[in-house]
Amino acid sequence: MESALSSNDADFRRRIRSDVPHSARVWNAWLGGKDNYPVDRELADVVSAAYPQTVDIARASRAFQVRAVRYLAGLGVRQFLDVGTGLPVENSTHEVAQSIVPQARIVYVDNDPIVLVHAAALLTSAPEGRTDYVEADLSDTDAVVEAASKTLDLSEPVAVMLLSTLGHLAPAEGIEVVQRYMARMPSGSCLVLCDTVKTPATLAAEKAYASGDNPPYLVREPEEITGCAEGLELVEPGFVSISQWRPAAGEETVPVDQWGLVARKP
Ligand SMILES: C[S@@+](CC[C@H](N)C(=O)[O-])C[C@H]1O[C@@H](n2cnc3c(N)ncnc32)[C@H](O)[C@@H]1O
Repeated sequence: MESALSSNDADFRRRIRSDVPHSARVWNAWLGGKDNYPVDRELADVVSAAYPQTVDIARASRAFQVRAVRYLAGLGVRQFLDVGTGLPVENSTHEVAQSIVPQARIVYVDNDPIVLVHAAALLTSAPEGRTDYVEADLSDTDAVVEAASKTLDLSEPVAVMLLSTLGHLAPAEGIEVVQRYMARMPSGSCLVLCDTVKTPATLAAEKAYASGDNPPYLVREPEEITGCAEGLELVEPGFVSISQWRPAAGEETVPVDQWGLVARKP
C-alpha cells in the first residue's frame, strides 16, 4: 500500500493516517480490494461480525451505481458529479458512462487524501469526454460546484451522485447539502442516492463502526433519505432496496438494508 504513495509532501503524507481507519479504505476492504491497511481491515471485520450483511451492501451499492449510471447515460445524461467517490474500483462512473456516451464528463469529489493518491485511475477519460478530481469537503457545496464547473457545463443536466456517503453527515445536514447541490443544477438534472436504513441490525452496525475512533456513519430513517429528493420526480421503481432498483437479468435481488433512488429535477 505504501508504494501507492507518490506525493513527497510531508503534510500530505501525515494526512494519510495508517493508524486510524478511513471510510474509503474500510469500504475498499469490504469490496475485497487491496488499498487498505490492517487498521481498516480490523474495523471492516468488527462491523461485518456485528452485521453480516455489510459486504452484501457494499457490493449492492456498487451494482446500483453501475445500473443507475448506465440508465441515465442511456437517457442522454452526459455529465456526472460523483460525490464521495471512494477508491477506484472496476466500473467507475466514467468507465460506465463513457462506455455508453463517450463524450460524458465526470467530476469526482472526495476529501480523503488516499483517494487523491489513486485519482490517476479516475482520470483515464475517453478522448471524446473529460474527467476531473476535486479534493473537497462535500458539505462545502459552493466550492465543489465552483470547481466542478471547470469541467461540467452547468447549463446542461448533471447527475449528482451520493452513494453510501451521506451517512457521514447528520441526517438534517445531509438533506440540506443535497438540496443545495440540486438547487445549483439546471432542470433535467438527476439525483442518485443510497444510504443505510435504520433497523436494530443496522444500528448495531453503526455502533460497531463508531468503535473505530473514526467519523461515524449514521443510519437513516427512510424519510431522512427521501427528504433529500423533495421537489424532484422519482424515477420508477421509486425509493426501494437498491438490489431491487431495475436489476439486470440474473442480478441478485434479495433486499438489503441499503435503500436508494434516482430522481429528476423538473
Ligand atoms: C463508504 S465510501 C463510498 C464510496 C463510493 N461512493 C461507493 O459507493 O463505492 C464513502 C466515501 O465518502 C467520502 N467522504 C466522507 N466524508 C466526506 C466529506 N465530508 N467530503 C467528501 N467526501 C467524504 C469518504 O472518503 C469515502 O470515500
